[in-house]
Amino acid sequence: MLTTTVSNLYTIMEERKSVRKYDPTFKMTQAELAEIITKATSAPSSSNLQPWRFLVIQDEAIKKELREIANNQEQIETSAAVIAVLGDAEMYKNVEKIYTQNVAEGHMGEEQKNMMITNSLRMYPSAPFEIRKNIATFDAGLISMQLMLLAKEKGLDTVTMGGFDKVKFAERFELPENQFPIVLIAIGKAAAPAYGSSRLPLGDIARFI
Ligand SMILES: Cc1cc2nc3c(=O)[nH]c(=O)nc-3n(C[C@H](O)[C@H](O)[C@H](O)COP(=O)(O)O)c2cc1C
Repeated sequence: MLTTTVSNLYTIMEERKSVRKYDPTFKMTQAELAEIITKATSAPSSSNLQPWRFLVIQDEAIKKELREIANNQEQIETSAAVIAVLGDAEMYKNVEKIYTQNVAEGHMGEEQKNMMITNSLRMYPSAPFEIRKNIATFDAGLISMQLMLLAKEKGLDTVTMGGFDKVKFAERFELPENQFPIVLIAIGKAAAPAYGSSRLPLGDIARFI
């Protein structure tokens, strides 16, 4: 029998469902949103390069504009905030900073730090943009899931959206060349429950050998 160290994790996972109807009067403070994002950064990432970036949109006028480039999805406007999850294809530029911090916090010694920096700088900068984009997208998916579960744990709801014009988004928010949008996560107080969703049976998705 498997046990979990956080006994309510499974309940939170079960209860998280994509909510598309929000109470438009419910607002969140920047500090509340910052806390969720900060906690979510415990997610793992390739070489710990943490290639996720966020644009947190609460401004009503900007949300209206964003709705237009996100297939007119209502939750963009009615949720308390939209967290745009971005990827940084030049994540390797933080390698020195990250591994110096690892040493300062006592997670590793100088030798291991230098090896990680050397290896990362040998691999990442010369990898094709598409490869770096895939890595950043995968890692951003991991932190996105953490964000959604943390929100649920606070009694809030979310919906992830891939349905938006990524080119227009990058233009409107003047993303630098190395950054690209991945998903938008609306967060807020549900005004109506999610309509629910089914899952494929285990036999369709897993093979045990
Ligand atoms: C990458 C991704 C993109 C999605 N895009 C949208 C979207 O644009 N609009 C929407 O209403 N839901 C979107 N969803 C939500 C899915 O429809 C939803 O997760 C799925 O139906 C399972 O339902 P559940 O989240 O309630 O368990 C997206 C989900 C993911 C993971």
